[in-house]
Amino acid sequence: MTSKRNILVTGGLGFIGSHTVLCLHEAGYCPVIIDNLHNSRMEVLNALTELLGYRPEFIEGDVNDGQLLDTLFQQYQFDAVIHFAAHKAVGESVEQPLMYYRNNVVGLVSLLESMQKAGCNRMVFSSSCTVYGEPESVPVKESTPTRPAASPYGATKQMAEVILKDNGWCSIQCLRYFNPVGAHPTAKIGELPLGIPNNLIPFLTQTVAGIREKLTVYGGDYSTSDGTCIRDYIHVMDLAEAHVSAIDRLFLENKSTPETPGDPSKGHFEVFNIGTGVGYSVLEVINAFEATTGEQVNYAIGDRRAGDVVAVWADTEKVNSVLGWKAKRNLETMMRDAWNWQKNC
Ligand code: WQD
Repeated sequence: MTSKRNILVTGGLGFIGSHTVLCLHEAGYCPVIIDNLHNSRMEVLNALTELLGYRPEFIEGDVNDGQLLDTLFQQYQFDAVIHFAAHKAVGESVEQPLMYYRNNVVGLVSLLESMQKAGCNRMVFSSSCTVYGEPESVPVKESTPTRPAASPYGATKQMAEVILKDNGWCSIQCLRYFNPVGAHPTAKIGELPLGIPNNLIPFLTQTVAGIREKLTVYGGDYSTSDGTCIRDYIHVMDLAEAHVSAIDRLFLENKSTPETPGDPSKGHFEVFNIGTGVGYSVLEVINAFEATTGEQVNYAIGDRRAGDVVAVWADTEKVNSVLGWKAKRNLETMMRDAWNWQKNC
């Protein structure tokens, strides 16, 4: 009987973390959640318990608490870590940069110190397409040069990647997310924006649900087909499955052949764009939502939002071929699941 591999999931009650916990269990891993509940709720743990059929291991805590981390690494002997725990609101990062540097950068260093002490040398890291800034060309490849970040949030992700690249003892799969949207098909877990949503889809669904009066489309005069910004929206379930593929790959290294990361003790850093490879404009998303749900979105074109890039979407050739992962869910499915979640939450 092979014992299951223990995976520490930091921020595991968050939007992407909670969906990944489900996929890890289904893939035969044992997820252990640590979350400080800054941007999540205990209701998510109850929903996961219902979906899993058992209550997953959960510790309320912060990655900046090195003593707690050391205790957990001794207790669970983690085989790998998936690090989600970070603040992620671009606008908030502009207002409170130090909170972002402490949580997203110092928190990462604290986690890495505990991992190194415990001899845990495998990590999947949650990065972001934000590191590309306004790309010189689209679709963006992993080799596309990063640009100066447009916000402290983006800067923390760039700094985190530098820290991870500099390590010489850990094997790291760095996943650059594009725009995660949607929810679990049961609508029992999904995106829980606390307060006024920054992101398009939760604001859109809250508008249709009558919680918000009107959706403002930030800018209708960009150099795109319909004047609105283009993004690569990816279903959160596809994104969660990509994390399992990355974890699987980290354990391939025992057969260190050219196509696997090799020996983790020598350090290894791989970057993957996790997107669908298709870009949609804001108006195309609104139209897809209305066509899929039959609901009307009350929106108006307004001023541009500072910091927005005009267009960014992923070249997914590397993740398709090296990680063997490809997004399966289309925009209509994303809209359907986002709306079902809104109605249920
Ligand atoms: C998408 C588009 C807006 C709200 C952010 C993070 C990024 C990543 C994904 C983590 C833009 C427009 C939005 C609204 C609008 N997160 N919009 N009205 O800014 O592309 O990326 O989420 O990895 O790091 O920066 O996402 O959903 O805010 O915006 O018109 O009320 O929708 O202008 O064109 P963004 P978003």
